[in-house]
Amino acid sequence: MDLNLKEKCALVFGSSMGIGRGIAEVLIREGASVGLLARHAAELEKVKSEIGAKAAYDADLTKPGVARDTVQKFIRDFGRLDILVTNTGGPARGGFLDVPEKQWRDDFQSLWMSVVEALNEALPAMKKQKFGRVIMITSLAAVEPIAGLTTSNGFRAGLTGLCKSISNEVASFGITVNTIRPGYINTRRIQENKWSPEKIREMVPAERLGEPQELGELAAFLASEKAAYITGQSIAVDGGRLRGH
Ligand SMILES: NC(=O)c1ccc[n+]([C@@H]2O[C@H](COP(=O)([O-])OP(=O)(O)OC[C@H]3O[C@@H](n4cnc5c(N)ncnc54)[C@H](OP(=O)(O)O)[C@@H]3O)[C@@H](O)[C@H]2O)c1
Repeated sequence: MDLNLKEKCALVFGSSMGIGRGIAEVLIREGASVGLLARHAAELEKVKSEIGAKAAYDADLTKPGVARDTVQKFIRDFGRLDILVTNTGGPARGGFLDVPEKQWRDDFQSLWMSVVEALNEALPAMKKQKFGRVIMITSLAAVEPIAGLTTSNGFRAGLTGLCKSISNEVASFGITVNTIRPGYINTRRIQENKWSPEKIREMVPAERLGEPQELGELAAFLASEKAAYITGQSIAVDGGRLRGH
């Protein structure tokens, strides 16, 4: 299927490795011009040339204003923004009483306000173009709390509501807003758990971790004209891990 992303410009947050990089790679394979964002400039430049991205923004999404500034820069550099993928590093772990209030504030900035700031810049530009695709990377935690990921459980559930709310406001402008919920994906964050193959088989019906590019395939489809009638949805890519329906 030709997704016809050749004229499209995409900005992918948190994209020097893991899920963000996997999404950037598939968008580039489908012909989009892609800008990357992460904190470490040298690594980012290396990835930019490895995967053929067109721009790299070293930026820290825990800092207020950074998501907004980067979207502004991207629109100046590319003249438009068709596809915005919001994603960042995962939050620190801790049960509710272990989480200091400072962490709540930091994670609010990084998981929530970075999305709000980016959308405040992106949506007016997308409205003018009468085309836009917003894809928020959240988590299974949005629908089924994961023990020890308290801030993620709270903020990701909220992002699902935000996605639905915004999607209704912008649908008539040719803009779709969806979330992708990763299951257990083969990235640094998950590799650090050092789970045995037996444990993975027990946890995931598909009996394996997902690969970042498998989220990329869905993201590329959602970003295409072919997905114009899919909006306000939250789709898990999890090998069957979520048991509810
Ligand atoms: N992997 C999974 O199975 C899984 C499952 C559910 C949800 N998720 C969520 O999906 C997101 C991505 O996960 P991942 O496994 O792909 O993580 P990852 O492999 O650690 O990659 C995170 C990416 O984001 C960048 N990043 C981290 N903190 C940042 C910041 N403050 N500002 C800007 N960029 C930042 C990292 O580069 P720098 O370090 O250079 O900034 C890197 O490019 C996380 O929020 C995670 O909670 C992941």
